[in-house]
Amino acid sequence: MTKPAPLSEQELAAIRRSGQILAQAMQQVIAAIRRGVVATIELDTLAESAIRKLGGNPAFKGYRGYPRTICISVNDEVVHGVPRKNKILKEGAVVSLDLGVVYRGMYTDMATTVVVSRQTRQTEIIAVAQAALREGLRQVRAGATTGDIGAAVQQLIEAHDYSVVRDLVGHGVGRSIHEEPSIPNFGQPGTGSRLRSGTAIAVEPMITAGRYTVTTDGDGWTVRTADGSLAAHEERTVLVTDHGYELLTPPRWDES
Ligand code: MF3
Ligand code: CO
Repeated sequence: MTKPAPLSEQELAAIRRSGQILAQAMQQVIAAIRRGVVATIELDTLAESAIRKLGGNPAFKGYRGYPRTICISVNDEVVHGVPRKNKILKEGAVVSLDLGVVYRGMYTDMATTVVVSRQTRQTEIIAVAQAALREGLRQVRAGATTGDIGAAVQQLIEAHDYSVVRDLVGHGVGRSIHEEPSIPNFGQPGTGSRLRSGTAIAVEPMITAGRYTVTTDGDGWTVRTADGSLAAHEERTVLVTDHGYELLTPPRWDES
């Protein structure tokens, strides 16, 4: 793989729309959970039809054989939980939703974690994941390094006695769902690749309440904590600019 070139004006217009479609579809999934929709397969159907109605296509469906539109990861599941007819969300469960959109060839990627409840409920692990995302994104600007992001994310998470998942990373995104550079959620400032203005990246801390080791289920997809501890995931796609970033998949961590 080679370093992606900055996006053209046409690609910029398309990735902005891609991110809006994704953000709106994600809000519809969250609203459905609040209304009491609990079968994960129904949330998948809803996500797919929302994306298509808005003129986009699901980015994950068919990616490396992934069978669905959304990933729904419950409690000790970290990422890549597969929606199923018989998988029911229980009141109080901590649920990570991960969704990707492609629009006119441009990909965006986003994840957020909610508690299953009719009201918005905050939990410590979700607050720490949101704060880690915030700290990571504070580092983003042209010339900053992937290690600057990872170090800031790791520092925030470990200061709160949570752990950073090592086996999965953030990434460049845009002309495909996963591009260079990879963006670990741990590391040293000043190391890794330099961010380039006009390219898009997905920053995505994955955190656990216990140890950071994860295992993959027999389904080949579901990644869960090895010790059974709770996990949370927050991800946004941003466009790197000279002095910071443009958020392509709102809302911010503190406005959901
Ligand atoms: N959102 C995941 C990521 O950030 C990608 C999941 S693609 C899937 O890397 F197809 F595996 F679900
Ligand atoms: Co991602």
